[in-house]
Amino acid sequence: MTQSPNEQQLGPTGRPLVTYPDPAPLQTHGPARIISMVNQKGGVGKTTSTINLGAALAECGRKVLLVDFDPQGALSAGFGANPHELDLTVYNVMMDRKVDIHEVIQPTETENIDLLPANIDLSAAEVQLVNEVAREQVLASALRKVEHEYDVILIDCQPSLGLLTVNALTASHGVIIPLICEFFALRAVALLVDSIEKVQDRLNPKLQIDGVLATMFDSRTLHSKEVLARIIDAFGDKVFDTVIKRTVKFPDATVSAEPILSYASNHPGAEAYRQLARELISRGGAP
Ligand SMILES: Nc1ncnc2c1ncn2[C@@H]1O[C@H](COP(=O)(O)OP(=O)(O)OP(=O)(O)O)[C@@H](O)[C@H]1O
Ligand SMILES: [Mg+2]
Repeated sequence: MTQSPNEQQLGPTGRPLVTYPDPAPLQTHGPARIISMVNQKGGVGKTTSTINLGAALAECGRKVLLVDFDPQGALSAGFGANPHELDLTVYNVMMDRKVDIHEVIQPTETENIDLLPANIDLSAAEVQLVNEVAREQVLASALRKVEHEYDVILIDCQPSLGLLTVNALTASHGVIIPLICEFFALRAVALLVDSIEKVQDRLNPKLQIDGVLATMFDSRTLHSKEVLARIIDAFGDKVFDTVIKRTVKFPDATVSAEPILSYASNHPGAEAYRQLARELISRGGAP
């Protein structure tokens, strides 16, 4: 069966396939654009997208800081940090003003990527922050001290809309919503968008939704295609052209504690995150 030329040029979103240009190298670095990866639903690809979008931006010569903002510490583990062996984490940076964030940020094996790690200590912050002055702005003020050293700061949020996630949204210029291509995924999003709008109104008027990233798409199933069509009905142009397909290479890369971009550099999954980085930059979502 031959495809008509039109069909051949359509991407999974049903829109024409766009090739985003390689971004120009940056002559100077900073200040950073800060982006939160948020979805209160668990297991949708927030951490995987933080690691691999970060790695793709780093390949483009961007200086990237990844902030682990989940007490489970999956992002830190994803770069080989043992959560139990960390003396200082983002928790200490937030709760103790004497702790210098520079002492807590670690380099990673990946060039141009630094990590602000987290571990289970962070779970106490949600309760302790309640009594803090300007409790929603604690992360924002901590990051201000390093903002000028990076081009992009990505914050990997935990699956909740609590005070930690509100801190992340308050610190951010943009939000990326990873959305798994499964039927029940859309139901959670109305509440998420409501939370984002409240933060925009009350705490951070500059905050914008940079895009909705469809993840774990399976082109062989009608189900995946139907869900993607509904995501596009709901979010229109906000949906990235780049769609992340389901592949076992992602869990494999996690086990070896590195981005898929280095674990399987030529794999389509690595290429997808490179395309996402180019798309984000060409939309103005990153320098
Ligand atoms: N495109 C993909 N294809 C197949 N598996 C994937 C894909 N993306 C992520 N995974 C796997 O799915 C699981 C959940 O992904 P991830 O940890 O990134 O989600 P999350 O939203 O950060 O979860 P949580 O809400 O628990 O923090 C992981 O085992 C990961 O390796
Ligand atoms: Mg995660």
